[in-house]
Amino acid sequence: MKIDILTIFPEMFEGFLTTSIIKRAIQNNLVDIQIHDIRNYSKDPHKKVDDYGFGGGRGMVLMPQPIFDAVDDLKQTNTKVILMTPQGKTYKQKLAYDLSKEKHLILICGHYEGFDERIRTLADLELSIGDYVLTGGELASMVITDSVVRLIDGVIEKESHLNDSFNNNLLDYPVYTKPVDFRGMKVPDVLLSGHHANIKKYREEEAYKKTKERRPDLLEGENNG
Ligand code: ADE
Repeated sequence: MKIDILTIFPEMFEGFLTTSIIKRAIQNNLVDIQIHDIRNYSKDPHKKVDDYGFGGGRGMVLMPQPIFDAVDDLKQTNTKVILMTPQGKTYKQKLAYDLSKEKHLILICGHYEGFDERIRTLADLELSIGDYVLTGGELASMVITDSVVRLIDGVIEKESHLNDSFNNNLLDYPVYTKPVDFRGMKVPDVLLSGHHANIKKYREEEAYKKTKERRPDLLEGENNG
């Protein structure tokens, strides 16, 4: 898979691309992630990418020209163009699975007070990572990239994400490591029993219990799409 990210703050991605699972996925050629500075596409002599909004009342607005040119340059026949915006569809795990099967994503990060409305016409999909407003789409694009890349075949063991929270509309079951007794809090006996069928049953029950307690909306199928 290839992911191209358009941003005016490429430096924000340095740690993200050079740490942990994302770093390893890149090294193993399971994903190619390229960060593109929108300024490099500006035709303005001062590499300007934003200007005051018509009608007043707002701060700086991202201009269409650099972003249209960047998408024209990077887009292929099988590309999905995604715009990060708090006005988009709320991002969910189900969509992470769908996106992990795509060949090529272009993620556009908005910034400042917003982007020129015409930029929306470039997008196949507008995504929000939640009902709050970030200073820009960069963190949102990292959230989406991270959650998609870990689902690409070969990035992590399948076993590790089969039981992820939100799979089968359930939260994940609880896990424990050493020591068996920490400050009087004990690891449940069943996990030490070596009895695989009982462990499986315990985990299923705990996942259901946790979901019922914390996210009953998932069991009712209200919040899964
Ligand atoms: N840009 C600003 N806020 C955002 C959000 N919540 N989701 C996606 N992009 C954003």
